[in-house]
Amino acid sequence: MTDYRTLISEAMKARENAYAPYSGFYVGAALLAAFEKDGKPLIFTGCNVENAAFTPTNCAERTAFFKGISEGVRAFRAIAIVGGKQGAVTDYTAPCGVCRQVMMEFCNPDTFEVIAAVSEDDYKVFKLKELMPEGFGPDNL
Ligand code: THU
Repeated sequence: MTDYRTLISEAMKARENAYAPYSGFYVGAALLAAFEKDGKPLIFTGCNVENAAFTPTNCAERTAFFKGISEGVRAFRAIAIVGGKQGAVTDYTAPCGVCRQVMMEFCNPDTFEVIAAVSEDDYKVFKLKELMPEGFGPDNL
């Protein structure tokens, strides 16, 4: 599997594109597909995109998911997330509840990994199930 460092580095790069003039909180994400493409890891990146009306704001994680799904990919292995005020990242950023629910739709809660990172060397790894205990997903319907 693509190593955590690569995913974190991709998330850091995506964070540079974050559009967050209202919160001043800049987030980047890198989502690893379950399958390679042309022998290479398939990674979808995303950043948060805010809006003057506030509610249309999209989180970095959902941007990455929706990019992947709109490209025809439906199976994912892991997502790295980095976030913080302008400048270097100083703390771990966990996904919001809405993003966790989107993960529940497309990921196996027992195996999908959420990597909350401060740097390539400083990160925490959670299984989706830990972040969404007793969650509701397609299998519950
Ligand atoms: N945000 C994300 O993009 N991902 C997270 O995991 C936490 C929150 C964004 C939404 C909003 O633009 C800003 O961070 C502050 O909540």
